[in-house]
Parts: sequence; structure tokens; C-alpha cells
Amino acid sequence: MRKNIAVIRGDGIGPEIVDQALLVLNRVAELYGHEFAYTDVDMGGCAIDKYGDPLPQHELDKCCAADSVLLGAVGGPKWNDVPGSMRPEKGLLRLRAGMGVYSNNRPAKIWPQLADASPLKKSIVDKGIDFIIVRELIGGIYFGKHETFEENGEKVSVDELRYSEEEIRRIGRIGFETAQKRGKKLCSVEKSNVLDSSRLWKKVMHELAAEYPDVELSDMLVDNCAMQIVKDPSQFDVIVTENMFGDILSDEASMITGSIGMIPSSSLGATGCGLYEPIHGSAPDIAGQDIANPIGTILSAAMMLRFSFSMAEEADCIENAVSAVLTAGYRTGDILPADGNATKVGCREMGRLIIENLTKG
Ligand code: IPM
Ligand code: MG
Repeated sequence: MRKNIAVIRGDGIGPEIVDQALLVLNRVAELYGHEFAYTDVDMGGCAIDKYGDPLPQHELDKCCAADSVLLGAVGGPKWNDVPGSMRPEKGLLRLRAGMGVYSNNRPAKIWPQLADASPLKKSIVDKGIDFIIVRELIGGIYFGKHETFEENGEKVSVDELRYSEEEIRRIGRIGFETAQKRGKKLCSVEKSNVLDSSRLWKKVMHELAAEYPDVELSDMLVDNCAMQIVKDPSQFDVIVTENMFGDILSDEASMITGSIGMIPSSSLGATGCGLYEPIHGSAPDIAGQDIANPIGTILSAAMMLRFSFSMAEEADCIENAVSAVLTAGYRTGDILPADGNATKVGCREMGRLIIENLTKG
């Protein structure tokens, strides 16, 4: 199969981790007789430097024309003082909205080899951690009106949190369908004791439940959910939640599995063209030192093969290679055990080891 992949290296550690993922994809293409063509796209701080815009229309167009998009990370202290509407992160939000990818899927699964890296007690980890956060990605407070104005001699800021029934319904369906393919348990997370948008969220989820009688729907307030994720994560199968709650809970969920550096994500909308990115940021403090963990990006590439290109075998091949390298005791700094009982490797070496372990099943 021939596929055109738009590649956004971005800022900070973005270029180094994406380069490793592309080397992995090249090897998979060789093994399985595919052809992956890459189109470079500038987004984030590097696009601000080059074009004065974190995502110019011509770069967004390249993404929409591709079969899918692979992204590293954007942002960094260099662009902290640019106006909000021009920040690197704004490029990412415009990309998500421009591609229409409303459904962000963030798995929180513990790799048995990394159980020691979890900050949770062994007794909790041993009950199992394997759930998915389905995060609404192009609505809510991220996309409402943002304004700062003067009132009574001081500055006041307002961020609008808005959801329509249809926006909730379409992400709700993804939540139910994801649960149908897994443990058939869906937990809808909101703040309906305070927010109108959450009360609407809850109402729509319960309406949808009638269409999915095989899925057990439960409701949880977001503050309680934050607590339950550390108290007993084994209770969760699929969580469906709005944009900002999903952003926050997915960082928490990644940490209990050991490291945010390990977690991939997929974002999909009405078409097969998806956006695939690790959930971590650009980590400018360690950029260019060849110490970043490329696994989150490599696993994002695997998700792209599975969900956008229907290449399940090829995706398994990458995931098995990652597993084999972890089993052999290789670790980047972020997942190094406290007792040091592992072989510490850098970003490039981790990529090379994964490629060496890619075998056609
Ligand atoms: C994420 C990130 C982004 C978000 C930022 C960089 C805008 O934190 O993908 O989780 O909040 O969505
Ligand atoms: Mg985040």
C-alpha cells in the first residue's frame, strides 16, 4: 500500500522523537512491502519563526491532503511571550479543528515490564491498569471565546465553555463504541454539580445509553475521577469526557503507568485521516541531548497503521518490538528503575533497538 503521511516535527524534542518513528515506519514498509511518502509540515514555534504564524493555511492544507498526520510536539519558552492567539499551541488547536478530529483516544495501560516505574503501590498496580480516555478534542473551553478586558480599573478575563448536544452526541458515540470493543463499561466524567455544559453532557450520554444496551454506563464527577484514578484505576474500562477534563485526566492516567513518555494517542473525525501524537509536550529542557523517550511517538505511528491504514499486523509488529526491547531491559532516563537495574539508552539507541526487533509475524 502507498500512503502519504504529513510529518510535523515541531519544537523541542519533537524532531528527535519523530525521526526515530520515521525510521521505524521505513523498516515496517520494507518488511511488508508498503511505500510511505512523507510531506514535511511546519507547525508551532518553528512556524512562528519562519512565517510569523504557528500554522499557516498552506501547512494545514498539506495535513488535510495527506492520508494521516504524525506529530512530535510543539511549544517552548522561546515563544512564551507571543500573544495567546499566536502561541505554538494555537497551531495545534487549529490543526485539530481544521482536520475535524473531534475524538482523541488516549490509552492508559501498564506495560508489565514497567510496573516498578508506576508511582502507585504494588498492591494497586497488581489489580491491573488498562483503560482508555476518550477526550472530546475540538470543542469546550479551548475553543470558546477568550477575552481579557478592563473593568473597574482592573483586568478581567473570560474563557467560554460551550457544548452543543450534537458535539456531545458524536463523542458520546465514540465512547460507547470503544467500550463495545473492550470491557463494555463506559464512565462519563463531568462536573454536573456545578456546570450547565456538564448537565447537558450527562443528559446526552444517558439518551445515547438506550442505543447501546450492551454497555454499562456510569457517571462520575471529574474531581472524584481524579481521585479514583490513583485510588483504584482497575475500575475503569473507557472514560469519555470533555476537552479540558480529558487533557488533565490523561496526564494523570499516563503518570500512573510509569511515564508520560510512553503514551501515544490517536485523534479521528469523520474521515480516516487521523492525527497521531504522543501525549507529552516538547520538553525543551532536554531537547537536542538525545535522551528523550521516542516510544510514545513510535507507538503513535503504530496506532496510525492500525486505525487509519487498517494495517493491524504491522501495528502489532511495532508494539511487539517495543515490548521485546523493554523485556531485554533497555530504558530511557524517564523509565529507568530506581535500583538502576536496566541498561540506560538514549533516544537514537532506543529507536535502533526497536527497529532491530521488528520482525514480520
Ligand atoms: C495535549 C496538550 C495540548 C492540549 C496543549 C499543548 C495545547 O497538553 O495534547 O494534551 O492541552 O490539548
Ligand atoms: Mg495535555
